Amino acid sequence: MKIQCYGCGQKLDVSELAPFSVIPCPVCSTSLIVPKTFGELLLEEKLGEGTMATVYRAMDLTLDREIAVKVLLDEHAGTPHTSEGFINEARIASAINHPHVIPIYSCGEIEGRSYIVMQYMGGRSLAARLADEKGPPVVQQILRCWVEAAKGLEGAHLHGVLHGDVKPSNILLDPDGNVKVADFGLSSIVYPDDPLDYQADGFSMPLVRSRYVSPEQVTTGMHDVLSDIYSLGCTMYEALTGKPPFDSDDPRENLRRRFRGAPDSPATVNPEIPGAISELILQMLSVYPSERPGSYAAIANEVKKHLEEPEKPKRSTGPNAARTVRRESPPAEAKAPVVRVPRPSPAALSAPLEAELAAAKAGPGLWFLRLFLALLAAVFLALGLGHALGAKWYDTYVMPHLPAVESTAPLPAQAPATPAVSPVADAPLPADPPAMTPSGVGSE
Ligand SMILES: Nc1ncnc2c1ncn2[C@@H]1O[C@H](COP(=O)(O)OP(=O)(O)OP(=O)(O)O)[C@@H](O)[C@H]1O
Ligand SMILES: [Mg+2]
Repeated sequence: MKIQCYGCGQKLDVSELAPFSVIPCPVCSTSLIVPKTFGELLLEEKLGEGTMATVYRAMDLTLDREIAVKVLLDEHAGTPHTSEGFINEARIASAINHPHVIPIYSCGEIEGRSYIVMQYMGGRSLAARLADEKGPPVVQQILRCWVEAAKGLEGAHLHGVLHGDVKPSNILLDPDGNVKVADFGLSSIVYPDDPLDYQADGFSMPLVRSRYVSPEQVTTGMHDVLSDIYSLGCTMYEALTGKPPFDSDDPRENLRRRFRGAPDSPATVNPEIPGAISELILQMLSVYPSERPGSYAAIANEVKKHLEEPEKPKRSTGPNAARTVRRESPPAEAKAPVVRVPRPSPAALSAPLEAELAAAKAGPGLWFLRLFLALLAAVFLALGLGHALGAKWYDTYVMPHLPAVESTAPLPAQAPATPAVSPVADAPLPADPPAMTPSGVGSE
């Protein structure tokens, strides 16, 4: 295989060299990467590797344009379910035509490995940008990024596509800082839709993504648009403060913490963050989905206000910081499917966490029911006790002092005959009843 140096135009034969090794051009010393052919594509540089795939910068030799190629890792390539799911999700995402969603150009299988071809984003991911950041994050830049990511997620939602894995590495930037969201629906491929069937290494999806996953994904394995809103809240918390809201090295501890209430207010971590923005993030991180902002549009509008008229940073605890975004129903045309993601394995979670998850899953309603039943039981107990004591007191103190009364009531056998309407009215009266037992008399 021959390549051409982009420094001096010299052609070089690199057939004998290992793909992706870096060599200096023998003429002008420009550093060159040895590419690797992959069908009609020329893989030129490895951009990174995630849990399911490797992403390359590449050239489409047919169209002669720079692209990014995501190739399923070898360990997943042999699994038909994963390969098919990978391609299916790419097809679904390719239907989204939105300026803030990465366009998918094509997909397929070469040498037994499934791949997706998409737009190359030369500005790298938000995660990479944050890792490079030296000083405190520039709030206005992050807010612009946030609005564009929210618009991309909303655009996909209007196509009926949920993300399921919103996090800084899936928010990509071009060299001008424009944002596009990548990897819609792909997380559910590697972690199959099988409750409690966790990976052989014992890591279920919530544990792998413990920094961004929503509480309901942990407890039920289900997610919807409000789960993506939660994950976007975690992402923006990290982008604005430099650290995720739940930041333990132990993934189980991260899962536990999200059930124990709000993280530190973003404005206390970075005082440059306006109070209302800090409150908005905390609202997005509500444990109960119903308490989160209900739509991306509401979130984007709130953030845009601070881009147009930057407010002086306020403490989130101050009286002016109490603005929260009102919940809005998702737009009528949005047909959001519920994407199932796996549940955590009981074996993978420690007992205290399970108890917290169960309590969180039960929600506040069950506690009211339990309280009500307990009160009801207490009332019945009190009534029963009162009745028993009253009867005892009556027998002991009242009965002995009552004057003896001779009963004049006729015995049942001497009671009037059955009414005339009865078909047996003319029948002879029954014979005298047998003598009644004392207990029978007493019970009358
Ligand atoms: N279209 C693209 N243009 C430029 N870089 C990209 C593109 N798509 C992905 N990348 C980069 O490639 C790297 C690997 O991405 P990938 O999506 O495989 O993993 P991830 O999102 O980091 O993690 P995970 O797979 O666990 O979700 C990331 O650093 C990402 O920023
Ligand atoms: Mg990704």
